[in-house]
Amino acid sequence: MPIDVQIAVTPAGRPQPLSEFLAAVTQGVLEAPAVIAVPVEAADAAPSGGAADLDGYLGAAAAMVTACAEMTGRAGEVAASVAGLGSGASRVVFLGVGDRSPAALRKAGAALARQVPAGRAAVVTVVLDEADEGRQAFTEGLLLGSYRYSLKSADPAGSGPTQISLLVAGPTDRAQAVVDRAVTVAGAVALARDLSNTPSSVKSPAWLAAEAVSLADRHSLRSRVWTDADLVSGGFGGLLGVGSGSVRPPRLIELSYEPPGWDRHVVLVGKGITFDSGGLSLKPNDNMKLMKTDMAGGAAVIAVMSALTALGVPTRVTGLVAAAENMPSGSALRVGDVITHYGGRTVEVLNTDAEGRLVLADALAYADQVLDPDVLVDIATLTGAARVALGSVMAAMYATQDALAADLLAAGTASGDRLWRMPLAGEYRDGLESSVADLANVAHGAGRAGSIDAALFLREFAGERPWAHLDIAGAARAPADDGEISKGATGFGTRLLLHWLSAGARVSQPA
Ligand code: BES
Ligand code: MN
Ligand code: ZN
Repeated sequence: MPIDVQIAVTPAGRPQPLSEFLAAVTQGVLEAPAVIAVPVEAADAAPSGGAADLDGYLGAAAAMVTACAEMTGRAGEVAASVAGLGSGASRVVFLGVGDRSPAALRKAGAALARQVPAGRAAVVTVVLDEADEGRQAFTEGLLLGSYRYSLKSADPAGSGPTQISLLVAGPTDRAQAVVDRAVTVAGAVALARDLSNTPSSVKSPAWLAAEAVSLADRHSLRSRVWTDADLVSGGFGGLLGVGSGSVRPPRLIELSYEPPGWDRHVVLVGKGITFDSGGLSLKPNDNMKLMKTDMAGGAAVIAVMSALTALGVPTRVTGLVAAAENMPSGSALRVGDVITHYGGRTVEVLNTDAEGRLVLADALAYADQVLDPDVLVDIATLTGAARVALGSVMAAMYATQDALAADLLAAGTASGDRLWRMPLAGEYRDGLESSVADLANVAHGAGRAGSIDAALFLREFAGERPWAHLDIAGAARAPADDGEISKGATGFGTRLLLHWLSAGARVSQPA
């Protein structure tokens, strides 16, 4: 359930906002918030942001509290105290903000969100004396750290903070604009997480398409959904083959955003496998447990599309989600079958569990042949090998151009969705040869590099377009809460792509 977090930026441009706020609470003009947060930097491990204003309300001076708690100011570190404020009291959270870098502030914001008692409506008051980038990162951290997904029958409705007040120095409207961006970005990430965390019993390809269309309607995007009949007449053999084992047929979802004056057209392609059982190449139970999130790439694409209007992105963006359910049945794709992809290329299916590349191949070929993009980026929970290589804190990135790779790497670092570039090692391409079709869907030969093989397979369908591929098999899920990441689906790629697209899909300058 998304939490409704409102952010008030108060008051404007006054020298000592915290003392004014505390006076107002003491006089009963404002209610005592559940939590008052005070930043503690690593540089001096001392409370900042006008914390001395609190001294008269605490049992010991703020600086003594942090010294007594042996705070170091490490990002996300917390120490709590209590302030008596007239007839009320607030929990005071001293919050490590590290070096005040965006990454540190994101972590601090998330740690603060976790200090608000569950199920309580809370006002978190933070004295935040930052540049725009830092404020946005902190606010994103707060919102992302309050994310929870729960279908427990006994869960209190709306746990976490319901309202957050940021006390800032400087012009309010500027701070508000920064906060609004953070709310939009974090809302998109929460949407991606919600879609991915939704159980597959609910989440059929048609359900995903209906969600996408209703979001498109709400955010002034054009949308088009190919039904299974449309996919047959269009020749989308990959989607149809993978979807053929399920009673719930596949869909191709297309969302379009066209801002006036655009000069670059980016097509995003997301893997939308709403459940990956492996098909006839059935997965063992343990490997199947998390496969409701095998549409996390598609979820990121839908979430990104939903935020473009609010962020005023200057780039034309088309989002494609190739949605199918990979199930074993009497009508399922067989091992050894040959399918014909959009545009006519044939593929021999040697493992029905390598299904992501089959649905993506159709969408990439369609994008290349029909949509005329300047850049093509796909995002997919594609290979267990990518997860083995990089774990869950970063995703594998492949790109046909160094400038595109550099832009995506920079956007990843700045946004908190970290990437690591991997090689499109041409030496491995031979392994994908098939004796009966144009290509095989899995590579043969010893000593394979599974994530690279999959990337090389996809490249065949991107034509000559500048193309990047994000293998998010590890990063799409987190085993536990960690900073702004919460257990379960992470929404990985949403922040990264929004950051990149907001900069006109160019972050670094071409050499
Ligand atoms: N969806 C999986 C990849 C995956 C694995 C995502 C673990 C998240 C966590 C994908 O469809 C798959 O099954 N890939 C196979 C490919 C193999 C058959 C060539 C894999 O990685 O084992
Ligand atoms: Mn699979
Ligand atoms: Zn899969």
